[in-house]
Amino acid sequence: MQRLERERADLQRLARAQAQARTGRNFSFTFMLFFVGSACWFLGYQYPRDVDPSSTLPLNATRPPTYKLNPAHLEAAWADFVEIVGQENVSTVDDDIKQHTVSEWSSHQPTDPAQKPFCVVYPSTTEQVSAIMKICHVRRIPVVGYSGGTSLEGHYTPTRGGICIDFSRMNKVLALHKEDLDVVVQPGVGWEELNEQLAQHNLFFPPDPGPGAQIGGMVGTGCSGTNAYRYGTMREWVLSLTVVLADGTVIKTRQRPRKSSAGYDLTRLFIGSEGTLGLVTEATLKLCVKPAAASVAVASFPSIRSAADCVARVVADGIPVAAVEILDDDQMRFINAHGTTSRRWREAPTIFFKFTGTAGGVKEQIDIVRQLARRAGSQSFDFAKDDAEQAELWQARKVALWSTMAQRRPGDRVWTGDVAVPMSRLPDIIEQTKKDFKTSGLTSSIVGHVGDGNFHVILLYSDAERKLAEDCVHRMVKRAVELEGTVTGEHGVGLVKRDYLPHELGETTVDAMRKIKAAFDPLCLLNCDKVVRVQKPARGEVAEW
Ligand SMILES: Cc1cc2nc3c(=O)[nH]c(=O)nc-3n(C[C@H](O)[C@H](O)[C@H](O)COP(=O)(O)OP(=O)(O)OC[C@H]3O[C@@H](n4cnc5c(N)ncnc54)[C@H](O)[C@@H]3O)c2cc1C
Ligand SMILES: *[C@@H]1O[C@H](CO)[C@@H](O)[C@H](O)[C@H]1NC(C)=O
Ligand SMILES: *[C@@H]1O[C@H](CO)[C@@H](O)[C@H](O)[C@H]1NC(C)=O
Repeated sequence: MQRLERERADLQRLARAQAQARTGRNFSFTFMLFFVGSACWFLGYQYPRDVDPSSTLPLNATRPPTYKLNPAHLEAAWADFVEIVGQENVSTVDDDIKQHTVSEWSSHQPTDPAQKPFCVVYPSTTEQVSAIMKICHVRRIPVVGYSGGTSLEGHYTPTRGGICIDFSRMNKVLALHKEDLDVVVQPGVGWEELNEQLAQHNLFFPPDPGPGAQIGGMVGTGCSGTNAYRYGTMREWVLSLTVVLADGTVIKTRQRPRKSSAGYDLTRLFIGSEGTLGLVTEATLKLCVKPAAASVAVASFPSIRSAADCVARVVADGIPVAAVEILDDDQMRFINAHGTTSRRWREAPTIFFKFTGTAGGVKEQIDIVRQLARRAGSQSFDFAKDDAEQAELWQARKVALWSTMAQRRPGDRVWTGDVAVPMSRLPDIIEQTKKDFKTSGLTSSIVGHVGDGNFHVILLYSDAERKLAEDCVHRMVKRAVELEGTVTGEHGVGLVKRDYLPHELGETTVDAMRKIKAAFDPLCLLNCDKVVRVQKPARGEVAEW
């Protein structure tokens, strides 16, 4: 009996031990599984995948970006923006939407009605811009920046819909450092207003693009203008930028010294990036002292070639003129017809010179240039004897685009084309282009910052003539590239010039640019489709070279 009980107890002990071992095994199995799982998960995060080993991003390696743009989602985003900037600073009014889609002077005219912003947001501070970008980043909403709206190549047309950030309420001069010759401004400050303020301190900011352009957009396009021959382009006049990146991160590219070797030159990377890499919310600009004296002279020539020859002589002699602008005979005719300047002009190829410096220096420059012009065959040479005459003479240059636009027949559109070539090639390309445009039968004129080898054609066309205009511009661009020039001297790439970049720069160079775009903005939220394509074009979308 006792033995029986002992055996039963033994059996029970055995069963218990077995059961314990079983749960132990189960437990350690689960534990192992959990541990291995976590380790893999952790390592997976540490080493997500092999890094992309390529230095560039070819178009065929891109994936089309995706966004969230359904109405309910956009409604919710709208409420977020209102919370950040207040209801009065978010607009869905039709006129605002139109203004931020395209302008009448844009050479790109969108045909897809979906290419418009859903709303326009007007921030006042860098923090607000950052908060807006954080919302758009989380919600995957594309964003286009907008300053003066004077850009010409479809720069701010929102190809992907989404929102527009308009910087016009960020229009303050934040700090003027007179002794350092620099100024800190917000992006909505216009270059004309800035110069009005600076004039009180005898200071001056040289880049002078279209009337109404603002610092944000001027950084965006890397603009220049008539002063570039003497003073250089926007690239030379920006010391530092505060930029909001695609995910809302705020960076400042450097402090205020005139020079610095501290790392990569991010300032210049953002200049000319057309709002595709970040949004500029503050800029520190270089300034210079206003020249003591200035004057303007106007010379007309029997042919566009003799006019261009004159420019070549002035440049070759190293005369430090402040600006050299060419206007062809058609352009002079349109200015007379438009009647906005008080004098009647000789309807011949004409060069406008601007001189600055000391009073004596200006006088001397005028004398030398007059002689050089005569030797190039000039038929007339007038120069301004006072400020009023100077303004009057220079005004003709300023009204060029508007006076050509005044020639439009009902329904006509305008196209301003821009290329630049090495100086010595300028007479050739201007002459050929002029001939080609005449043959096309379209109304056109040529104006140019010829001192830099840069010129523009202004072209009028009806909807039926669009293809004819495209072909004319195409041939001009191709000519410029073949003469070792550039497809845009100053207006930038936008939508119109992007397929020309591989021809000018080479496929691999553009692939390197695309890699930079993808590094800063992997979701392609910022002005997507501008400068470089991020997805393959449809068949037939790109014209043959
Ligand atoms: C009559 C006329 C004459 C012109 N003459 C010249 C000339 O002589 N020289 C010249 O270079 N250009 C000229 N232009 C073109 C135009 O004035 C310039 O390209 C100018 O720099 C655009 O500035 P904006 O403020 O109007 O820019 P916008 O048109 O508002 O924007 C231009 C680009 O910059 C981006 N952008 C705007 N704000 C910001 C920001 N805060 N941060 C980042 N990106 C931003 C936009 O998304 C867009 O891609 C002329 C235009 C006209 C209509
Ligand atoms: C992309 O194109 C290049 C040449 O243009 C080719 O060598 C490469 O194999 C292509 N890559 C893919 C993923 O198709
Ligand atoms: C809207 O913007 C203006 C101008 O920047 C600013 O003064 C105003 O406070 C803003 N409104 C709100 C509600 O934040």
